[in-house]
Amino acid sequence: MGTYRETYDRSIADPEGFWLEQAARVDWIRKPQRALDDANPPFYRWFPDATLNTCFNALDRHVVRGAGDRAALVYDSPVTGSRRTYTYAELLGEVAAFAGVLHTLGVAKGDRVVIYLPMIPEAVIAMLACARIGAVHSVVFGGFAPQELAVRIDDARPTVLVTASCGIEPTRTVEYKPFVDRALELAEHAPAAVVVKQRPQLAASMVDGRDIDWDVAMRAGRTDPAAVVEVAATDPLYVLYTSGTTGRPKGIVRDNGGHAVAMAWSLPHVYGCDAGDVWWAASDVGWVVGHSYIVYAPLICGATTVLYEGKPVGTPDAGAFWRVVADHRVKALFTAPTAVRAIKKEDPEGLLVREHDLSCLETLFLAGERLDPDTYHWATDRLGVPVVDNWWQTETGWPIAANLRGLEAMPIKPGSPSVAVPGYDVTVLDTDGTPVPPGTEGAICLRLPLPPGTLPTLWGDDDRYVASYLSTHEGHYLSGDGGYVDEDGYLFVMGRTDDVINVAGHRLSTGSLEAVIAQHPAVAECAVIGVADTLKGQLPRGLVVLKAGAEVDPDRLREELVGMVRSQIGAVASFRDVEVVGGLPKTRSGKILRRTMREIADGKDVAVPSTIEDPQVLDDIRILLRRDGSAS
Ligand code: COA
Ligand code: AMP
Repeated sequence: MGTYRETYDRSIADPEGFWLEQAARVDWIRKPQRALDDANPPFYRWFPDATLNTCFNALDRHVVRGAGDRAALVYDSPVTGSRRTYTYAELLGEVAAFAGVLHTLGVAKGDRVVIYLPMIPEAVIAMLACARIGAVHSVVFGGFAPQELAVRIDDARPTVLVTASCGIEPTRTVEYKPFVDRALELAEHAPAAVVVKQRPQLAASMVDGRDIDWDVAMRAGRTDPAAVVEVAATDPLYVLYTSGTTGRPKGIVRDNGGHAVAMAWSLPHVYGCDAGDVWWAASDVGWVVGHSYIVYAPLICGATTVLYEGKPVGTPDAGAFWRVVADHRVKALFTAPTAVRAIKKEDPEGLLVREHDLSCLETLFLAGERLDPDTYHWATDRLGVPVVDNWWQTETGWPIAANLRGLEAMPIKPGSPSVAVPGYDVTVLDTDGTPVPPGTEGAICLRLPLPPGTLPTLWGDDDRYVASYLSTHEGHYLSGDGGYVDEDGYLFVMGRTDDVINVAGHRLSTGSLEAVIAQHPAVAECAVIGVADTLKGQLPRGLVVLKAGAEVDPDRLREELVGMVRSQIGAVASFRDVEVVGGLPKTRSGKILRRTMREIADGKDVAVPSTIEDPQVLDDIRILLRRDGSAS
């Protein structure tokens, strides 16, 4: 494969040749003759003349080639005290059976299926079953409230919804089914059927004529499994909603062909794992890390993937990750820095690390938020393996910047996810769109076309795709992150430049939180900003201005607003901090200076904008944010 530099340069100089060659990693039904359709910029399509089936690549082909007995999926669930290993042949059997169920329920190629499940094997089975019959899955993270689920249902318009009776958090059992029932009351669209996995921990009540028991359906499905359906490489495999800057989530579309190639290329080259290796991405199937690196990449490559239903701490202790690594002989672990910070908080000396035989572990990969140098050093010192940062987004589906362990391991610089990954033409631009010199901060952008596996558009909304990502700097994708490249070509990602915040590795829109808070009868206006938090990276903080004459007890108001966010967005928002302020800083035209507040909260020196309406209001906010910032 050659060194990093050679590979990278070739991928940029000759993307067609490079990716056509990599396409050999995938089994096609009709092989691609061309790599890129660039006839309609800024819309690009990869492998426009090819057909395949993603599920065949993830399962059948390994069985066909004699690896049916190899472990495909290891389910490890400390919260239920259960474990199960599925071989490739067993997983294929389950997936084909559930694909048969979906087929019987009327799901056809191109139809959508919403999956709202905890971290149980049924989540993986349902995703792959959709892929098998050419249906488009949309997995919704379990920490979202009914309202958020309803918005996604109305956008995706699924034929079937798949859920479970409950999820299990360390301190409580989360009832999923009532959330689904409520979401379907709120949504305008009604799926034809709801398939429910009844878990032994809690039985959900069923709606006659609509709800179907997973286990009962599977008995029929096993007698009538579905065969693979041929799809175009450019057909959608899934839609995954992510937070944008407004309250309305963006449906990131992933295609079949480009995605399969990107998955097959990235696991060995970026993460140094391949067929036969045991790989563990400790994320959730509701996030992009879960889609790419719990499900698709490891299975497409023929590796063994671990599905962990538990937390880094509390299930039962801060040694849980090390126990899983040792028990399943995990070669590489991928998680978010916040998980390491949670472990470090409970076991600062790393005593629990020493209780397990971690000789199998070669690398710890971290992504999802900025890897702070403290966390980097702690993990490196305690584990004695390379700790490798990688930067990417739901939109791209796989790393944009990384230290490519399987291609050429490079020196690690703490605070940097290292260098641009082959396929990504990374550039840092100033506000005029001019590339900035090394060491200067600007907007991190990617020159078009983006490589295979990245978003071709937003679900049902080409205009929003262009407006959100492609219209600021012509010919470039705007990542929404700011940062710089140093003299050695290492990228430093400094944080979002928009109203997206990152709470415990979960991406949230401050706009959607503001929309909920603004509904309170006593609130005249509000702003939500992300403030630094030592555990979760960032936490949302609400600043509210009361309506004239409104008399409310601040504690009661706080309680009500926290409750509203929890019930409308979900527990995942971790929203607890609300402050009543005299006013919000605004421009003379009435625009709230969110960016200025964000920069103050980040500890930056911010000049008073010349267009400000009342500088005193900004001074008051500055005092408030600085006071609390220095206290935390
Ligand atoms: N279903 C239902 N509720 C969920 C949920 C799920 N799948 N996941 C989280 N929640 C709930 C939690 O129970 C918690 O509720 P609470 O307010 O009643 O306690 C709330 O959402 C916030 O959860 P979380 O952000 O996970 O915080 P936490 O305090 O429970 O745990 C960490 C903190 C750091 C241990 C945890 O955030 C973690 O493991 N993070 C890893 C992040 C990650 O995997 N990111 C994916 C990108 S790689
Ligand atoms: P998501 O789409 O949920 O994966 O979130 C993507 C966002 O998380 C990025 O735009 C960044 O702001 C942030 N992020 C992810 N990985 C990193 C990283 N390694 N370093 C810094 N920020 C990161």
